[in-house]
Amino acid sequence: MPGHGAEYTSTEWGPGVTEKPIQLYGLHRLPVQVEELLSRRFAIDWNESDRNLPLDTLVRLGTEYDGLVTTVTDRIPAPVFDAPGRRARIVANFGVGVNLIDVAAARRHGVVVTNTPDVLTDCTADLTMALMLMALRRLGEGERLVRAGQWDGWRPTQHLGRRATGLTLGIVGMGRIGQAVARRAHHGFGMRILYAGRSPAPAAIVTDLSATRHSLDQLFGLADVVSLHCPATPETEGLVDRRRLGLMRPDAVLINTARGTLVDEPALAEAIRGRRLGGAGLDVYRDEPGVAPELLALDRVVLLPHLGSATIETRTAMGMVVVRNLEAFFSGAEPPNGV
Ligand code: DGY
Repeated sequence: MPGHGAEYTSTEWGPGVTEKPIQLYGLHRLPVQVEELLSRRFAIDWNESDRNLPLDTLVRLGTEYDGLVTTVTDRIPAPVFDAPGRRARIVANFGVGVNLIDVAAARRHGVVVTNTPDVLTDCTADLTMALMLMALRRLGEGERLVRAGQWDGWRPTQHLGRRATGLTLGIVGMGRIGQAVARRAHHGFGMRILYAGRSPAPAAIVTDLSATRHSLDQLFGLADVVSLHCPATPETEGLVDRRRLGLMRPDAVLINTARGTLVDEPALAEAIRGRRLGGAGLDVYRDEPGVAPELLALDRVVLLPHLGSATIETRTAMGMVVVRNLEAFFSGAEPPNGV
């Protein structure tokens, strides 16, 4: 990317600094420390509505700004990159998943796309464990009962769930987050770890977790809990379909903190409604923020609003990675997290 940082002459932009600033547009508001840091480095405008913007606006913004700061809910399709007079040369995503960005179109036009890996691994793994326990122990149902004022006292047979200890966890996608979940489940809860993935996990991890690799179908048939940790790609679209759900044990639960497109949501709802599956814990949905009504109607499904990385520590760290990617790019270096 030679020369792309030609006009980036100052790392501080503000009163008294006269160089032409790099102009950025932030599609969603970010944690305050991150915004402050960005506005010291760049001239940045924000989408005050904090809502996803329509395509024509995105195309226009691409022609008016040097770079766009996106989040995992912003769909940036080819027309933004194809637009005549496009000025934006970088899309710096606040988040790991870039499935809504047409990365191929960006590449065709030499636009750099960056993301924020690593810093949200632990947070997402924690949330996965929380969802797993909620689904296994039917905690959502219990909480709703108490809130509705309908709890009439402790009973030996009330809300019986499943004990996590000793269960078999099937991890689909043994990357950073999959491994972090497996560590928590194995060392914290004594769970047996199976995994399916494109390549074998590193030997040290396999040994540490006594993990065994299986085909997807085998894993779905063997696990008490199946947890999804693979990216949304054309290959993983609908990976959890009616057939695979049919392989699962009737008391098993499905956990999804990855992406909604991995799951056939109506088929999942049907399996749970028909008692062919124990339940599910979902943080992500095919059509966010829409949630399939079939899922909303089911007690045995725990539904969270895409909170995987939602801690102050992690969201701040993600912002710092965005800043580093932008700084590197505009000073002519390779951004650390190019996609
Ligand atoms: C990501 O970064 O892709 C996460 O889904 C955000 O929580």
